[in-house]
Amino acid sequence: MKHNFGAGPCILPQEVFHQAADAVLDFNGLSILEVSHRHKDFVAVMDEAIDLVKKALHVPEGYSVAYLQGGASLGFTIAALNMMRDTKKAGYMNTGTWASGAIKEAKKVGIDVNVFASSEDKKFSYIPKDYSIPSDADYIHFTSNNTIYGTQFHAFPSTHLPLVCDMSSDIFSKEINVADFDLIYAGAQKNLGPAGATLYIVKDEVLGKSTSPFMPTYLDLKQHVEKESMLNTPPVFSVYVAMLNLRNLMANGGVKAMEAKNNAKATMLYTEIDKNPLFNGSVAPEDRSKMNVTFTLNDEAHQAAFDLLWKSADIVGLPGHRSTGGYRASMYNALPLESVQVLVEVMREFTRKNG
Ligand SMILES: Cc1ncc(COP(=O)(O)O)c(C=O)c1O
Repeated sequence: MKHNFGAGPCILPQEVFHQAADAVLDFNGLSILEVSHRHKDFVAVMDEAIDLVKKALHVPEGYSVAYLQGGASLGFTIAALNMMRDTKKAGYMNTGTWASGAIKEAKKVGIDVNVFASSEDKKFSYIPKDYSIPSDADYIHFTSNNTIYGTQFHAFPSTHLPLVCDMSSDIFSKEINVADFDLIYAGAQKNLGPAGATLYIVKDEVLGKSTSPFMPTYLDLKQHVEKESMLNTPPVFSVYVAMLNLRNLMANGGVKAMEAKNNAKATMLYTEIDKNPLFNGSVAPEDRSKMNVTFTLNDEAHQAAFDLLWKSADIVGLPGHRSTGGYRASMYNALPLESVQVLVEVMREFTRKNG
Protein backbone atom coordinates (compact mmCIF):
# COMPACT_ATOMS: atom_id res chain seq x y z
CA MET A 1 0.00 0.00 0.00
CA LYS A 2 1.23 3.48 -0.89
CA HIS A 3 1.00 6.28 1.65
CA ASN A 4 -0.26 9.14 -0.50
CA PHE A 5 0.61 12.56 0.95
CA GLY A 6 -0.09 14.29 -2.40
CA ALA A 7 -1.62 17.78 -2.31
CA GLY A 8 -4.39 17.15 -4.82
CA PRO A 9 -5.72 15.33 -6.68
CA CYS A 10 -5.21 13.13 -3.68
CA ILE A 11 -6.16 10.08 -1.74
CA LEU A 12 -9.84 9.10 -1.43
CA PRO A 13 -11.18 6.14 0.56
CA GLN A 14 -10.19 2.78 -1.01
CA GLU A 15 -13.82 1.68 -0.85
CA VAL A 16 -14.78 4.67 -3.00
CA PHE A 17 -12.14 3.74 -5.58
CA HIS A 18 -13.66 0.24 -5.80
CA GLN A 19 -17.23 1.52 -6.10
CA ALA A 20 -16.16 4.03 -8.76
CA ALA A 21 -14.34 1.29 -10.67
CA ASP A 22 -17.46 -0.90 -10.57
CA ALA A 23 -19.58 1.94 -11.97
CA VAL A 24 -17.15 2.48 -14.84
CA LEU A 25 -18.07 -1.04 -15.93
CA ASP A 26 -21.69 -1.12 -14.85
CA PHE A 27 -23.61 1.82 -13.40
CA ASN A 28 -27.15 0.98 -14.50
CA GLY A 29 -26.46 -1.51 -17.25
CA LEU A 30 -24.36 1.21 -18.88
CA SER A 31 -21.02 2.56 -17.75
CA ILE A 32 -21.17 5.80 -15.71
CA LEU A 33 -18.97 7.15 -18.51
CA GLU A 34 -21.58 6.61 -21.20
CA VAL A 35 -24.82 7.37 -19.42
CA SER A 36 -26.71 10.55 -20.35
CA HIS A 37 -26.59 13.25 -17.72
CA ARG A 38 -30.34 13.68 -18.34
CA HIS A 39 -31.09 10.03 -17.54
CA LYS A 40 -33.15 9.71 -14.37
CA ASP A 41 -30.46 7.52 -12.80
CA PHE A 42 -27.88 10.29 -13.10
CA VAL A 43 -30.34 13.00 -12.11
CA ALA A 44 -30.78 10.97 -8.90
CA VAL A 45 -26.99 10.98 -8.43
CA MET A 46 -26.82 14.75 -8.80
CA ASP A 47 -29.72 15.21 -6.37
CA GLU A 48 -28.03 12.97 -3.81
CA ALA A 49 -24.63 14.64 -4.31
CA ILE A 50 -26.26 18.03 -3.56
CA ASP A 51 -28.28 16.68 -0.67
CA LEU A 52 -25.26 15.04 0.96
CA VAL A 53 -23.32 18.33 0.93
CA LYS A 54 -26.27 19.93 2.75
CA LYS A 55 -26.35 17.12 5.31
CA ALA A 56 -22.57 16.94 5.83
CA LEU A 57 -22.18 20.68 6.43
CA HIS A 58 -25.60 21.31 8.02
CA VAL A 59 -26.31 23.84 5.28
CA PRO A 60 -29.20 25.98 6.55
CA GLU A 61 -32.41 26.90 4.73
CA GLY A 62 -31.91 29.72 2.25
CA TYR A 63 -28.71 28.30 0.75
CA SER A 64 -28.21 26.34 -2.47
CA VAL A 65 -25.54 23.91 -3.57
CA ALA A 66 -24.26 23.58 -7.14
CA TYR A 67 -21.62 21.60 -8.97
CA LEU A 68 -19.85 23.38 -11.83
CA GLN A 69 -16.73 22.86 -13.89
CA GLY A 70 -13.71 25.18 -14.20
CA GLY A 71 -11.99 24.45 -10.90
CA ALA A 72 -11.53 26.90 -8.08
CA SER A 73 -9.59 29.03 -10.56
CA LEU A 74 -12.83 29.83 -12.37
CA GLY A 75 -14.35 30.26 -8.92
CA PHE A 76 -12.14 33.34 -8.48
CA THR A 77 -13.98 34.98 -11.40
CA ILE A 78 -17.41 33.56 -10.55
CA ALA A 79 -17.15 34.83 -6.98
CA ALA A 80 -16.20 38.35 -8.08
CA LEU A 81 -18.87 38.57 -10.78
CA ASN A 82 -21.67 37.24 -8.62
CA MET A 83 -20.80 39.29 -5.53
CA MET A 84 -20.30 42.62 -7.34
CA ARG A 85 -22.76 45.25 -6.08
CA ASP A 86 -22.97 49.03 -6.13
CA THR A 87 -19.57 49.96 -4.72
CA LYS A 88 -17.75 47.49 -6.99
CA LYS A 89 -15.20 47.36 -4.17
CA ALA A 90 -14.11 44.27 -2.29
CA GLY A 91 -11.73 43.49 0.55
CA TYR A 92 -9.32 40.61 -0.01
CA MET A 93 -6.85 38.88 2.29
CA ASN A 94 -3.68 37.84 0.56
CA THR A 95 -2.38 34.70 2.22
CA GLY A 96 -0.66 32.99 -0.69
CA THR A 97 -0.65 31.96 -4.31
CA TRP A 98 -4.34 31.08 -4.54
CA ALA A 99 -5.49 34.15 -2.65
CA SER A 100 -3.31 36.24 -4.99
CA GLY A 101 -4.95 34.48 -7.94
CA ALA A 102 -8.39 35.40 -6.61
CA ILE A 103 -7.28 39.05 -6.28
CA LYS A 104 -5.94 39.11 -9.82
CA GLU A 105 -9.12 37.70 -11.34
CA ALA A 106 -11.38 40.02 -9.32
CA LYS A 107 -9.46 43.00 -10.69
CA LYS A 108 -9.86 41.66 -14.22
CA VAL A 109 -13.65 41.78 -13.99
CA GLY A 110 -13.61 45.34 -12.65
CA ILE A 111 -13.56 44.93 -8.87
CA ASP A 112 -11.71 47.68 -7.04
CA VAL A 113 -9.72 45.38 -4.73
CA ASN A 114 -8.56 46.52 -1.31
CA VAL A 115 -5.98 44.04 0.01
CA PHE A 116 -6.52 44.91 3.68
CA ALA A 117 -4.36 42.10 5.07
CA SER A 118 -1.41 40.22 3.66
CA SER A 119 1.31 37.87 4.83
CA GLU A 120 3.45 38.38 1.77
CA ASP A 121 6.10 40.18 3.88
CA LYS A 122 7.09 36.84 5.44
CA LYS A 123 6.60 34.62 2.41
CA PHE A 124 3.04 33.75 3.45
CA SER A 125 4.24 31.88 6.52
CA TYR A 126 1.47 33.15 8.80
CA ILE A 127 -2.16 34.26 8.84
CA PRO A 128 -2.54 38.03 9.32
CA LYS A 129 -4.32 39.00 12.54
CA ASP A 130 -3.95 42.74 12.95
CA TYR A 131 -6.16 44.19 10.29
CA SER A 132 -9.29 46.23 9.97
CA ILE A 133 -11.88 45.06 7.54
CA PRO A 134 -13.04 47.81 5.17
CA SER A 135 -16.63 48.89 5.71
CA ASP A 136 -17.31 50.12 2.18
CA ALA A 137 -17.05 46.91 0.20
CA ASP A 138 -19.49 44.64 -1.56
CA TYR A 139 -17.87 41.59 0.01
CA ILE A 140 -14.81 40.21 1.80
CA HIS A 141 -12.80 37.32 0.36
CA PHE A 142 -10.31 34.94 1.96
CA THR A 143 -8.78 31.50 1.44
CA SER A 144 -9.39 29.27 4.46
CA ASN A 145 -6.42 26.96 3.92
CA ASN A 146 -3.28 27.86 2.02
CA THR A 147 -2.44 24.58 0.35
CA ILE A 148 1.02 25.59 -0.84
CA TYR A 149 2.35 27.28 2.31
CA GLY A 150 0.64 25.15 4.95
CA THR A 151 -1.23 27.86 6.85
CA GLN A 152 -4.89 27.76 7.83
CA PHE A 153 -7.41 30.13 9.39
CA HIS A 154 -8.38 28.65 12.75
CA ALA A 155 -10.76 31.57 13.31
CA PHE A 156 -12.54 33.11 10.36
CA PRO A 157 -12.63 36.89 9.78
CA SER A 158 -15.62 38.43 11.46
CA THR A 159 -17.59 40.99 9.46
CA HIS A 160 -21.11 42.19 8.83
CA LEU A 161 -20.25 42.32 5.11
CA PRO A 162 -20.94 39.31 2.86
CA LEU A 163 -18.13 36.82 3.41
CA VAL A 164 -16.76 34.74 0.53
CA CYS A 165 -14.32 31.88 0.99
CA ASP A 166 -12.22 29.64 -1.21
CA MET A 167 -12.35 26.44 0.87
CA SER A 168 -10.78 24.20 -1.75
CA SER A 169 -8.32 22.48 0.54
CA ASP A 170 -10.11 22.18 3.87
CA ILE A 171 -13.82 21.85 3.15
CA PHE A 172 -15.32 18.77 4.90
CA SER A 173 -12.21 18.52 7.10
CA LYS A 174 -13.80 20.30 10.06
CA GLU A 175 -17.14 21.65 11.12
CA ILE A 176 -18.03 25.12 9.85
CA ASN A 177 -21.00 27.40 10.23
CA VAL A 178 -22.23 27.89 6.66
CA ALA A 179 -24.51 30.72 7.82
CA ASP A 180 -21.38 32.88 8.34
CA PHE A 181 -20.82 32.93 4.58
CA ASP A 182 -22.60 34.28 1.54
CA LEU A 183 -20.55 32.14 -0.81
CA ILE A 184 -18.21 29.18 -0.39
CA TYR A 185 -16.47 27.55 -3.33
CA ALA A 186 -14.07 24.64 -3.55
CA GLY A 187 -12.42 22.54 -6.21
CA ALA A 188 -13.41 18.91 -5.65
CA GLN A 189 -9.99 17.33 -5.82
CA LYS A 190 -9.06 17.31 -2.14
CA ASN A 191 -11.71 16.16 0.32
CA LEU A 192 -14.64 15.89 -2.05
CA GLY A 193 -13.76 13.74 -5.04
CA PRO A 194 -11.83 13.55 -8.28
CA ALA A 195 -10.84 16.68 -10.19
CA GLY A 196 -13.47 18.00 -12.55
CA ALA A 197 -16.24 19.32 -10.34
CA THR A 198 -16.22 22.55 -8.34
CA LEU A 199 -18.58 22.98 -5.44
CA TYR A 200 -20.51 26.19 -4.72
CA ILE A 201 -22.57 26.82 -1.61
CA VAL A 202 -24.39 30.09 -2.03
CA LYS A 203 -26.89 32.10 -0.05
CA ASP A 204 -30.01 32.40 -2.18
CA GLU A 205 -30.22 36.14 -1.48
CA VAL A 206 -26.99 36.58 -3.44
CA LEU A 207 -28.37 35.14 -6.68
CA GLY A 208 -29.25 37.50 -9.51
CA LYS A 209 -28.03 40.64 -7.70
CA SER A 210 -24.81 41.26 -9.60
CA THR A 211 -24.20 44.74 -10.98
CA SER A 212 -21.63 43.49 -13.45
CA PRO A 213 -22.34 44.59 -17.02
CA PHE A 214 -20.66 41.36 -18.11
CA MET A 215 -22.25 38.09 -17.02
CA PRO A 216 -21.81 35.11 -19.31
CA THR A 217 -24.54 32.57 -18.65
CA TYR A 218 -22.12 29.91 -17.41
CA LEU A 219 -20.66 32.25 -14.79
CA ASP A 220 -24.03 33.19 -13.33
CA LEU A 221 -24.66 31.09 -10.23
CA LYS A 222 -28.39 31.83 -10.45
CA GLN A 223 -28.56 29.90 -13.70
CA HIS A 224 -26.82 26.87 -12.21
CA VAL A 225 -28.96 26.83 -9.09
CA GLU A 226 -32.19 27.18 -11.09
CA LYS A 227 -31.16 24.39 -13.44
CA GLU A 228 -30.09 22.19 -10.48
CA SER A 229 -26.50 21.94 -11.79
CA MET A 230 -27.73 20.73 -15.18
CA LEU A 231 -27.36 23.99 -17.11
CA ASN A 232 -24.98 22.15 -19.38
CA THR A 233 -23.30 18.76 -19.21
CA PRO A 234 -21.98 18.47 -15.66
CA PRO A 235 -18.73 16.62 -14.83
CA VAL A 236 -20.66 13.37 -14.55
CA PHE A 237 -17.94 11.07 -13.24
CA SER A 238 -16.54 13.59 -10.79
CA VAL A 239 -20.01 14.26 -9.34
CA TYR A 240 -20.71 10.53 -9.14
CA VAL A 241 -17.51 9.84 -7.18
CA ALA A 242 -18.10 12.91 -4.98
CA MET A 243 -21.49 11.40 -4.12
CA LEU A 244 -19.85 8.05 -3.25
CA ASN A 245 -17.27 9.84 -1.14
CA LEU A 246 -19.90 11.87 0.71
CA ARG A 247 -21.89 8.70 1.40
CA ASN A 248 -18.70 7.23 2.81
CA LEU A 249 -18.10 10.35 4.91
CA MET A 250 -21.59 10.22 6.37
CA ALA A 251 -21.34 6.49 7.08
CA ASN A 252 -18.15 7.14 9.04
CA GLY A 253 -19.41 9.76 11.45
CA GLY A 254 -19.60 12.76 9.13
CA VAL A 255 -17.47 15.90 9.31
CA LYS A 256 -17.31 15.83 13.11
CA ALA A 257 -15.60 12.44 13.16
CA MET A 258 -13.31 13.53 10.34
CA GLU A 259 -12.29 16.60 12.32
CA ALA A 260 -11.27 14.44 15.29
CA LYS A 261 -9.25 12.16 13.01
CA ASN A 262 -7.60 15.14 11.29
CA ASN A 263 -6.70 16.65 14.68
CA ALA A 264 -5.05 13.39 15.73
CA LYS A 265 -3.04 13.18 12.50
CA ALA A 266 -1.90 16.80 12.75
CA THR A 267 -0.90 16.45 16.41
CA MET A 268 1.11 13.34 15.63
CA LEU A 269 3.12 14.91 12.81
CA TYR A 270 3.64 18.38 14.30
CA THR A 271 4.77 16.82 17.60
CA GLU A 272 7.48 14.94 15.72
CA ILE A 273 8.52 18.03 13.73
CA ASP A 274 8.88 20.00 16.98
CA LYS A 275 10.73 17.22 18.83
CA ASN A 276 13.02 16.08 16.08
CA PRO A 277 16.22 18.20 15.88
CA LEU A 278 16.70 17.56 12.15
CA PHE A 279 13.39 19.08 11.02
CA ASN A 280 11.79 22.52 11.15
CA GLY A 281 8.16 23.52 10.71
CA SER A 282 7.85 26.11 7.93
CA VAL A 283 5.09 28.34 9.29
CA ALA A 284 3.95 30.15 12.46
CA PRO A 285 2.90 27.39 14.91
CA GLU A 286 -0.47 29.00 15.71
CA ASP A 287 -1.41 29.09 12.02
CA ARG A 288 -0.35 25.58 11.07
CA SER A 289 -2.59 23.80 8.63
CA LYS A 290 -4.08 20.46 9.58
CA MET A 291 -4.38 19.58 5.90
CA ASN A 292 -0.96 20.52 4.50
CA VAL A 293 1.98 20.20 6.87
CA THR A 294 5.05 22.02 5.52
CA PHE A 295 8.52 21.42 6.89
CA THR A 296 12.20 21.58 5.97
CA LEU A 297 15.38 19.74 6.83
CA ASN A 298 17.79 21.59 9.10
CA ASP A 299 20.59 20.65 6.79
CA GLU A 300 19.80 20.48 3.08
CA ALA A 301 22.83 18.28 2.54
CA HIS A 302 20.71 15.48 4.05
CA GLN A 303 18.03 15.74 1.40
CA ALA A 304 19.08 12.80 -0.75
CA ALA A 305 19.32 10.51 2.29
CA PHE A 306 15.89 11.54 3.60
CA ASP A 307 14.30 11.21 0.16
CA LEU A 308 15.66 7.70 -0.20
CA LEU A 309 14.25 6.72 3.16
CA TRP A 310 10.68 7.94 2.72
CA LYS A 311 10.49 6.62 -0.83
CA SER A 312 11.57 3.20 0.36
CA ALA A 313 8.73 3.30 2.92
CA ASP A 314 6.20 3.57 0.04
CA ILE A 315 5.48 7.22 0.81
CA VAL A 316 4.54 9.35 -2.21
CA GLY A 317 3.75 13.02 -2.78
CA LEU A 318 5.99 14.47 -0.05
CA PRO A 319 8.03 17.13 -1.89
CA GLY A 320 6.90 20.70 -1.26
CA HIS A 321 5.30 22.82 -3.96
CA ARG A 322 7.73 23.75 -6.73
CA SER A 323 7.53 27.40 -5.66
CA THR A 324 8.51 26.78 -2.01
CA GLY A 325 10.71 23.66 -1.91
CA GLY A 326 11.02 21.71 1.34
CA TYR A 327 8.42 19.10 2.19
CA ARG A 328 4.66 19.08 2.39
CA ALA A 329 2.67 16.25 3.90
CA SER A 330 -0.93 16.68 2.78
CA MET A 331 -3.21 14.82 5.15
CA TYR A 332 -6.66 15.00 3.64
CA ASN A 333 -9.63 13.17 5.15
CA ALA A 334 -8.94 9.81 3.51
CA LEU A 335 -5.31 9.58 4.62
CA PRO A 336 -5.19 7.01 7.43
CA LEU A 337 -3.50 7.72 10.75
CA GLU A 338 -1.27 4.72 9.99
CA SER A 339 0.26 6.59 7.04
CA VAL A 340 1.22 9.46 9.35
CA GLN A 341 2.70 6.90 11.75
CA VAL A 342 4.84 5.56 8.90
CA LEU A 343 6.10 9.05 8.07
CA VAL A 344 6.91 9.75 11.73
CA GLU A 345 8.80 6.45 11.97
CA VAL A 346 10.79 7.38 8.85
CA MET A 347 11.69 10.75 10.37
CA ARG A 348 12.87 9.05 13.58
CA GLU A 349 14.91 6.48 11.71
CA PHE A 350 16.47 9.25 9.65
CA THR A 351 17.47 11.06 12.82
CA ARG A 352 18.91 7.89 14.38
CA LYS A 353 21.11 7.49 11.31
CA ASN A 354 22.03 11.15 10.74
CA GLY A 355 21.50 12.97 14.02
C1 LIG B 1 -6.91 26.83 -1.96
C2 LIG B 1 -6.90 26.61 -3.44
N1 LIG B 1 -7.56 27.46 -4.24
C3 LIG B 1 -7.57 27.30 -5.57
C4 LIG B 1 -6.91 26.26 -6.17
C5 LIG B 1 -6.96 26.12 -7.67
O1 LIG B 1 -7.85 25.08 -7.92
P1 LIG B 1 -8.14 24.52 -9.37
O2 LIG B 1 -6.91 23.81 -9.80
O3 LIG B 1 -9.31 23.61 -9.12
O4 LIG B 1 -8.49 25.65 -10.25
C6 LIG B 1 -6.22 25.35 -5.39
C7 LIG B 1 -5.50 24.22 -6.00
O5 LIG B 1 -4.86 23.43 -5.37
C8 LIG B 1 -6.21 25.53 -3.99
O6 LIG B 1 -5.55 24.68 -3.20
